[in-house]
Amino acid sequence: MNTPEPGPERIVPVDVQPHPYPAIIAPGGLAGLGAALRKRVKSPRAAVLTDENVRPLYAEQALAALRGAGFEPALITVPAGESSKSLERLAFVYDALAAAKIDRTSPLVTLGGGVIGDLGGFAAATWLRGIPFVQCPTTLEADVDASVGGKTAVNHPSGKNLIGAFYQPLFVLVDTLTLATLSDRDYRAGLAESIKHAVIQDAEFFDWHAQNVERILSRDPATLGALVEHNIRIKAAVVARDERETTGLRALLNFGHTVGHAIETAMARRGAPWRHGEAVAAGMVAAAEMSVVSGRLDRSAAEKIIDLIARFGLPITAPLKGHEAELMEVMTADKKVAAGKLRFVLADAIGHATLYDDIQPEWIEAGLRRCLAVS
Ligand code: GLY
Repeated sequence: MNTPEPGPERIVPVDVQPHPYPAIIAPGGLAGLGAALRKRVKSPRAAVLTDENVRPLYAEQALAALRGAGFEPALITVPAGESSKSLERLAFVYDALAAAKIDRTSPLVTLGGGVIGDLGGFAAATWLRGIPFVQCPTTLEADVDASVGGKTAVNHPSGKNLIGAFYQPLFVLVDTLTLATLSDRDYRAGLAESIKHAVIQDAEFFDWHAQNVERILSRDPATLGALVEHNIRIKAAVVARDERETTGLRALLNFGHTVGHAIETAMARRGAPWRHGEAVAAGMVAAAEMSVVSGRLDRSAAEKIIDLIARFGLPITAPLKGHEAELMEVMTADKKVAAGKLRFVLADAIGHATLYDDIQPEWIEAGLRRCLAVS
């Protein structure tokens, strides 16, 4: 994969039927939010959902762009963090939509990371049985993965993302300049999903990561544009063929996520929450090890995957050694369990993965041994 010039705008079609939509990637793209929305929506009203961290950084730009296109936008702000993916916070968003008189023709814009996209997307899917919505992601994790494909959800006390809907946006608008204010930790966490896409679908993209670690970590604009575009192309191709995760193709995007979600839940319970991408990074280490012990992947390929995760400064172990039973309990409550059987996405090679349901307990044990350390 070559690194192209940082063009002003890149558009990736997301061909989900019956309502395909574009993902627009542009440095400074938020300025075009109002015009892009006005082309698609007539209503004078709109709402913008954001969080307390993003609000002071980008809300005014989004509101100004909407006002410039003739909208009277209401701003809805929730606390930052996973705790906002709750039914209580969802009720707060519904109340705000009602107060802003958001009718069935009025759009909701989500401005933030994966939590805001998930919460706002589910609010949009359910308010008045569905209103138009737009995803404006501001984190790398949301740019390369969560904002595309229409998965929306809030959490239930028994597990992550258990209450949700597939609901596609009118468009996704990625303003890559918003990545400049992302903390180093959040930026690296987003890279976990990029490595995941490479491992499951694209060996050339994997090598590109390995050859461009410094440029990627320094957020070089051309490299960033190329990285976001290529990830969205991979994600769009998957969701266009399996929007509802029925054929097993979209499920491949869960590589590293079964153990990853369990780590994320366990760390949050300990009051030391990890970023989603950090948990996925350690989860991918477990999945790579499981791929080897189940005879699907060469040891050298697994070590290359683990080495790349480490080179991006992502965790390859979680401090949960001795807590395997708790992780197993969380994994079996996960919605990825089918007919009581744990299913795992395993890599058959770098660039190719398969969903397996013949998972042996000793493979999981080996995966956990590899990705857990004493605290
Ligand atoms: N992030 C996984 C998916 O969208 O299916």
